[in-house]
Amino acid sequence: MSASADVVTNERVAAVSTDVLAALHEVLGRHQVTEAEWRGVLDFLTDVGRADEFVLLSDVTRTSVLIDALSHAAEDGGVTASDVEGPLYREDPPWRERPVKIYADYEGMGEGDVLIVGGRVTSAEGEPLPGAVLDVWQTGPSGGYDVWDERQPAYNFRGRFGVDDSGAYEFQTMLPKPYTVPTDGPVGRYLELVGQHPWRPAHIHFKVEADGHVPLTTQVFFPGDPYLEDDTIGAVKPELVRPLTRREDGSELGLDRPFYTCEFDIKLRPASRS
Ligand code: BEZ
Ligand code: FE
Repeated sequence: MSASADVVTNERVAAVSTDVLAALHEVLGRHQVTEAEWRGVLDFLTDVGRADEFVLLSDVTRTSVLIDALSHAAEDGGVTASDVEGPLYREDPPWRERPVKIYADYEGMGEGDVLIVGGRVTSAEGEPLPGAVLDVWQTGPSGGYDVWDERQPAYNFRGRFGVDDSGAYEFQTMLPKPYTVPTDGPVGRYLELVGQHPWRPAHIHFKVEADGHVPLTTQVFFPGDPYLEDDTIGAVKPELVRPLTRREDGSELGLDRPFYTCEFDIKLRPASRS
């Protein structure tokens, strides 16, 4: 869907909801759903709203992945693939100055691996976009997201930062690990009921913006992850799985152990191209 088609009109609501209701009524009839069962559905959806889990429900039912695919179907292969945002983005993350490091050490972080991620932000034709701004968020090597882990300072493993004159960026983080989406609410009950596991492969989320270009939301994954083929939200795209290189000599970063690097070049779509 192009940016201009993002406006929700009454006509679209009327057309889509009429078809949604026809499909829903057909399914209810085919399964002879009872009053008690339908009441259970309504109670479940009420709980989902109260727990603020509608985005999570959209994600685990792979509806978010479908909408992402529909929204970006017309794009050519010259730009970086988009991916779903998920429910863990936090507005207004701290601005990180160069050299960019997006975390502070915390008790319980364990023996994680340091990771340096870098690349260039360019137009589809490879022209540098020196005004680009990146916004990244991820889990740490243990304990998950900052919002779940009271040992971590607020906004740990999150941050916004710019690129240099050649469009290059680089940030220091730690290699994330696979984790489970929240399971302590109504969506967790749903996953258990339908027998769907809650695991996601390790990943880093990116939002990237530059003047004159369509903002990109995406994720980067790493080879060899046990959940690459079986992400509970189905969001892995092969072109977003980026190789890791192990560097044996960590002394350049002040480390007494090896670390990893990952290259991720980002190409943005011009705003004028629909
Ligand atoms: C995440 O990647 O942060 C995420 C995505 C979907 C559901 C829960 C978490
Ligand atoms: Fe995530």
